[in-house]
Amino acid sequence: MTYKVGILGATGAVGQEIIRLLHERQFPFSELKLLASSRSAGKVQSYGDQSWTIEETKEDSFKELDICIFSAGGSQSEMYAPVAQKHGCIVIDNSSAFRMDPNVPLVIPEINPKAALGHKGIIANPNCSTAITLMGLYPLHKMFGLKTVIASTYQAVSGSGAEALQELKDQLNAWSNGQTIEKNVYPHQIAFNVIPHVDRFDSEGHTREELKLLNESRKILQLDDLAVACTCVRVPVFRAHSISVTASFENEIDMVSARKAIQDFPNVELVDDPDNLKYPMPINYSEVVPCAVGRMRKTNVIKNGLSLWITGDQLWKGAALNAIQIAELLHEEGAIR
Ligand SMILES: NC(=O)c1ccc[n+]([C@@H]2O[C@H](COP(=O)([O-])OP(=O)(O)OC[C@H]3O[C@@H](n4cnc5c(N)ncnc54)[C@H](OP(=O)(O)O)[C@@H]3O)[C@@H](O)[C@H]2O)c1
Repeated sequence: MTYKVGILGATGAVGQEIIRLLHERQFPFSELKLLASSRSAGKVQSYGDQSWTIEETKEDSFKELDICIFSAGGSQSEMYAPVAQKHGCIVIDNSSAFRMDPNVPLVIPEINPKAALGHKGIIANPNCSTAITLMGLYPLHKMFGLKTVIASTYQAVSGSGAEALQELKDQLNAWSNGQTIEKNVYPHQIAFNVIPHVDRFDSEGHTREELKLLNESRKILQLDDLAVACTCVRVPVFRAHSISVTASFENEIDMVSARKAIQDFPNVELVDDPDNLKYPMPINYSEVVPCAVGRMRKTNVIKNGLSLWITGDQLWKGAALNAIQIAELLHEEGAIR
């Protein structure tokens, strides 16, 4: 079985990775339709010896498609997902538009694959920091029962899209050449800085990104009482997010079992050998499938507490890869058309 596949937002940071991973993972597509805004319409996108012309997204763009991965922001998803749904095209959405909709499954295939099969035409991909954090926490949750999460994120600039990636490069170049550093994407210079602000603030001082970790974790893990406190921070890293977590569990932590739980979980690696200076770092977990966990140690500041550090490629596990894994899951279950 092969499918007609679309990518909405094909020219973006995530869209480019979707094109690459569909090929590298040999997803069975017979046609690929690349959609973006009118700004990109007519441009040519190549991969290997193939090339496609980018098309402007229109209501009838989805008519012939079996499945379309959306990666063009929440307002585009809100506008076009119901249209695609009407045409029988399954939407896997990278934006936050539908994640908390009770009719839309929010899926990490290693954690809650069955949820995907109950979809009604739209499946949501989790927020990038949430996906990576849960890849590290879920194996521990299964063993010890997760209760509380206190986290700080260290989020790469590519998490804000292609323009932000360029902004960090431009600022580094300007600094090296003694030129004035300009900023457009972030409210402050990001080169040689950290910014404790990701997404919009609410009236209580939380950012939306911080609340995503709370709300999306509760939905994915089906843990309505999970307590989460999070500070999201943008750091001058090109790619791959890291999360520092202190968590408390129902049951007492046994470190041998905790390490084994991480080692046995698919697509997670334990990199935890401080004596030999081994711990996960973004530079080692960019453009790779697994996320990594390290710096695991018990803490006495909360009951049954454990601190750990989790790193993963947010363009892959936090977006493109997770979306394609969902498509692969549907394909394996014969659930596309
Ligand atoms: N970056 C990440 O790590 C990450 C992780 C998880 C989720 N996401 C989510 O994925 C989505 C895309 O993020 P990104 O980082 O790839 O952003 P990006 O690099 O800024 O790319 C945005 C894409 O959306 C397209 N687009 C913008 N306005 C459009 C319109 N009116 N009609 C059709 N297409 C339009 C752009 O096309 P043009 O080139 O024509 O402007 C481009 O292809 C966002 O919802 C983001 O929250 C991103």
